[in-house]
Amino acid sequence: MDKYVIEGGRPLYGEVEIQSAKNAVLPLLAASVLTDEQVVIRRCPRIADVLNMVQILGELGCKTRFEGDALVIDPAAAANHEIPPALARELRSSVFLLGSVVARFGRARIAYPGGCDIGLRPVDLHLRGLRRLGVDVREEGGSIVCACEGARGAEIVLDCPSVGATENILLAAVTAKGSTIIRNAAREPEIVDLQNFLNRMGGKIAGAGTSVIAVEGVRRLHGTEYTPLPDRIEAGTFLIAAAMCGGKLALRNVKSENLASLVHKLREISCKIHAKDDKIYIECGARRTPKLIETSPYPGIPTDLQAPMTALACICEGSTVIVENLFETRFKHVPELIRMGADITVRGRSAFVRGVPALHGADVCASDLRGGAALTLAAVSAEGCSTVVDLGFIDRGYSDFEGKLRAAGARIRRVRV
Ligand code: EPZ
Repeated sequence: MDKYVIEGGRPLYGEVEIQSAKNAVLPLLAASVLTDEQVVIRRCPRIADVLNMVQILGELGCKTRFEGDALVIDPAAAANHEIPPALARELRSSVFLLGSVVARFGRARIAYPGGCDIGLRPVDLHLRGLRRLGVDVREEGGSIVCACEGARGAEIVLDCPSVGATENILLAAVTAKGSTIIRNAAREPEIVDLQNFLNRMGGKIAGAGTSVIAVEGVRRLHGTEYTPLPDRIEAGTFLIAAAMCGGKLALRNVKSENLASLVHKLREISCKIHAKDDKIYIECGARRTPKLIETSPYPGIPTDLQAPMTALACICEGSTVIVENLFETRFKHVPELIRMGADITVRGRSAFVRGVPALHGADVCASDLRGGAALTLAAVSAEGCSTVVDLGFIDRGYSDFEGKLRAAGARIRRVRV
C-alpha cells in the first residue's frame, strides 16, 4: 500500500494536461462488445477503473492491447457472457456491460456491481429499463442474470436522470428491433460522448445531452476509432486545487463549457478564470465564501466535485452550506478534514462549514475516490506536513495525480508503506 507525504502551503503554478474522462471511457469500453470488429480508444487513461474494465473485456474473450496511449480492442473472439464476480465488485461501471453483453450474446450474468461506497447505489432503474426492452432479468444469489432472444424498442421513463441507467439502456437499445425513447434521461456530457461513439459505429441515436433520447435500432455495429472527451471532474479538481493553494494554473485538453457551474462558483469566491480554445486559466488570491454549494445532475454542480469543494469551503472567509443531493453517504472526507483543523458540522445530506484561515497538516485516510482527491488538495494547501493513505481510491480515477501536482510546485511524493 502506498501513501502520499506532503509538505503543504505552497502556491501552484504551471500547466496541467487533463486526461480523457474516466466516466466517458468506461461506457465506451462496455460498448466495444457490441461489435466483432476492432475498436480503438485514443488517449485512453491507464487508471485502475479502466484497467479493471479492460480485464473484464479479456474475461469475455476480447483481445486488448495498448499501443502508446491508444487502447486497441478486438472483440471478434468474445464468447463468454459471464462477468467474473471478483471483477464486477471492483467497479460500478461493470453494470453497463449488462446492456452490451445481453445485446451481443442474448444473455448476461453479473454479480452486483461495486464502486465507491458513497450511498446505496441501487440498479433498479437499469433493470427496469432492460425489462422494458424485452430482456428477462432475474436476481439469483447476488447475481443479475439476463436473457433475451432479441430486444425490441420501447418507451422508457426514468424515475431520476441516472447516468448509468441511461447508458445501460442505450447499449441495449442501439441494436434492438424498432425505436426506443428514453425520457428523463441523464444529460451529462459523457452521455453525448457515448451517443457519438455508438453513431460512429453505425448506430442511430439523437438527443443525448437533453432529457429525451431517441434510438432507431440497427442490425449491427462496425468498429471505429475514437478520442473520448476530456475529464471535466479531473479538470474541476485542479481548478479547485488552484483556488485552495493560490497561484496560477493553465489546464490543457479541457471543454470549458462542461465546467460552467463550477467556474461560476469559483468566480463567486473571486477566482479569475478565462478559457481559450482547449485551455482554461485560473488565478486565485483571497477566497470569499461561496455561501451555498448544492450538487445536482448535469448541468448543476457535479456530485463528484462536492468533496473537493467542501475542502475549499474550509478555508474560505465566512460560512458555507454544502448540500449533497445525489448520494446518501458522501461526506466521509469530513472527519479527516476536521483532523486538519476544519470546522464542519454534518446534518444528514448537509454540511455546515465555517471557514478558517488555513488548515494544518495531519495523517489522513481516503475512503473513496473523490474524497481522497479532496484530502490531498487539503494537505497540499495546509500549513505543515501531512500523509494520505489508501491511495488505491485515488488511482481509480486520476492518472499520475501526484506527478501533476508536483509539476505545478506542490511538495508531494508517493512512498511505499
Ligand atoms: C455515475 O455513477 C458516475 N460513475 C459517478 O461518478 C457519478 O457520481 C454519478 O454518475 C452521478 O453523476 C460512472 O459514470 C462510472 P447515477 P452512477 O445512476 O451511474 C440513483 C466518480 O467519482 N439511482 O446517476 O452510479 C442513485 O442512487 C463516480 O467518478 C437509482 O435510484 O450514478 C443516485 O442517488 C462516483 N437507481 C442517483 O440515482 C438506479 O438504478 C444518481 O446515480 C440508478 C441510480
